[in-house]
Amino acid sequence: MPAERKPLISGNWKMNLNHFEATATLDKLRYLLAKDDYEVVDVSVHPPFTDIRTVQTFLESEKVPIAIGAQNCHWEDKGAYTGEVAPPMLAKLNVAYVIVGHSERREIFGETDVEVGRKVKAVFTHGMTPILCCGETLEEREGEAHHGKITGQVHAGIEVLTAEQVATMVIAYEPIWAIGTGRTASADDAQEVCGWIRAKVADMKGADAAAAVRIQYGGSVKAANAAELMGQPDIDGALVGGAALDPDEFAKIVQFRLA
Ligand code: PGA
Repeated sequence: MPAERKPLISGNWKMNLNHFEATATLDKLRYLLAKDDYEVVDVSVHPPFTDIRTVQTFLESEKVPIAIGAQNCHWEDKGAYTGEVAPPMLAKLNVAYVIVGHSERREIFGETDVEVGRKVKAVFTHGMTPILCCGETLEEREGEAHHGKITGQVHAGIEVLTAEQVATMVIAYEPIWAIGTGRTASADDAQEVCGWIRAKVADMKGADAAAAVRIQYGGSVKAANAAELMGQPDIDGALVGGAALDPDEFAKIVQFRLA
């Protein structure tokens, strides 16, 4: 991984940890991570919406340089969208990164490529950075359809963006068959797809955007496999689900370089 792409390790808490548990988790994490870690790795946590204000207050008052993330948002600024959260509401809470198009949103809640594209754009409009997720099902992988699926998802997600915007965003490759299953993609397979994604970004937005965009791998990342995954030339970080709920494990992933 070129030095100019600082790795980003993100903890996607999904629908776990209430705001009390969030504070307790971050309180442990801050003692496990040191100044040196933040110098070489960017770290973000993505709690449920109901925790974000509490997490913001905690991280800012304790001066912990962990970025605040969200797991989703709507694309409109406001309006009659019962149950949705608007990007400017997140920006107001100093949210830096928003996960967009996670496979659980696509598969369980029927989010489409078009909606994902609108969300990515809206996140940029409000000064935040999208983490655009893509990835194939087991069936698609076994049928050799994964490259086509991922190309389509990436295309729909970045189509309307400028090359400059793409250079600053994050793309997360998360094979669905590896999420929450304990079955991680091999480092070679993960690298192969992340390299493919970078090549597609080059085709769509030029070499500079492709060289700068950070590509995370996600799917059963844990302390035991983080270093090998992070050692791949086109993997610039990790989107961590289950292992992010355990501060000891998550800290070891952030400190992958010490393994
Ligand atoms: P996992 O989840 O680490 O539990 O596999 C990753 C994700 O869904 O972002």
